[in-house]
Amino acid sequence: MKYTRLIGTKDILPGETFPWVALQNILRDVSARFGYHEIITPLIETTNLFIHSVGDVTDIVSKEMYSFKDKSERDITLKPEGTSSVVRAYLENHLTDLSKPVKLYYIDRFFRYEKPQKGRYREFYQYGAECFGSDSPAVDAEVIQLAFHLLLSMGMKDLILQLNSIGCPSCRPRYREQLVAFLKLHENELCSECKLRAATNPLRVLDCKKESCQAVLAGVPITTNHLCRDCAQHFNTLQELLTALGLPFQCNSRLVRGFDYYNRTVFEISSIFLGSQSALLGGGRYDDLVEMLGGSPTPAVGFAMGLERAMMIIQESNSMAFVEPSTTLWIANFGGITLTESLSIANQIRQAGIRVEVDLEGKGIKKSLESALKRGIPYLLIIGEDELKNRLFTLKDLQKKDQQSLTLQEIIGTIQNSQMNSL
Ligand code: HAM
Repeated sequence: MKYTRLIGTKDILPGETFPWVALQNILRDVSARFGYHEIITPLIETTNLFIHSVGDVTDIVSKEMYSFKDKSERDITLKPEGTSSVVRAYLENHLTDLSKPVKLYYIDRFFRYEKPQKGRYREFYQYGAECFGSDSPAVDAEVIQLAFHLLLSMGMKDLILQLNSIGCPSCRPRYREQLVAFLKLHENELCSECKLRAATNPLRVLDCKKESCQAVLAGVPITTNHLCRDCAQHFNTLQELLTALGLPFQCNSRLVRGFDYYNRTVFEISSIFLGSQSALLGGGRYDDLVEMLGGSPTPAVGFAMGLERAMMIIQESNSMAFVEPSTTLWIANFGGITLTESLSIANQIRQAGIRVEVDLEGKGIKKSLESALKRGIPYLLIIGEDELKNRLFTLKDLQKKDQQSLTLQEIIGTIQNSQMNSL
């Protein structure tokens, strides 16, 4: 029987893991510079958490969750997104007591039963940042600044930030009424999915990607024309701040995003290296979610970025080069005591920070030379019985094609010097 990975999942192979970890190091470093702290939440949560927070009529909850009953008949879901879990953890662990704003970030894997395609997987990684405790538009601006800082640190250019405000519970119902009336007039022109959405989640019709629906929406009422005074002021101040920070944006009144928890600011950043329909990152404000999940009213804002998509952009645009350091020294030996001693000497050399591998089968010089050359290892050390007696070992420089007889300390010094010179 041949086993294959499940559709929509992938293996990250040696050679790919180094860039993957390097990318995560950048994310951690930049997050710390903005005062964010890492949080790790479980991969599984109770299903109700997502039904309640993301919303039961959203695509994610109604179609895409990996949900199952465990052996105690509990309803469990593999996390489809991070915000709900972070809010749950924020409340459950009394992070509410910390001085505000509380700034948290995560690097985690998520699961959605979506149709796999370029940049869309059923298991994928996200970096996410969530900031709790302030409704100031300066927080929205700083969160967007963090997103840009992360992307620029990966060498990305040609980024497009789209911005919208979808109002709050006091102004959105009025907008919703007008939208529903408009959609009713055009019901027959909408795609079958949007006909359904018009009744259950009308805002989601706005970002339907189908051309027929986009044509209908040409005359649709605009969210930002129906904001209450506070929401309008919040949105204007955010735009002023972004302009002052030199962060270019486009207002897109059809940007609504697929989660029920958002209010006011929503945003997405895309890149010309992704298809026009996929965002690299997306986020927004969710001022009511903490209260909805049992906490006291706590405004919050955040975003998440798909790491497979980030990596795809880095590779396609050559925006960063990752050079994985490889083994520097290979130790040839002849088995028996020479192998035992090789293992011990290898460790002494490793303590000086040098990457060392040993011929673990003790097959002698010819085989070791072949292995070292095949792997592109620049130095070969030969440990035979004579060398052990004299404590003088032959170090071959396979690039310069010369060799010297040296003590262990001299070997370490020679390799360290050559590494310093190649920096
Ligand atoms: P989201 O827009 O669903 O937002 O996901 C954020 C990013 O995750 C997307 O822009 C995309 O890069 C990546 N992503 C989403 N689904 C997939 C997939 N199936 N395969 C590969 N990448 C994917 C959220 O998840 C919100 N929780 C963001 C947020 C945080 N809002 C406030 N705080």
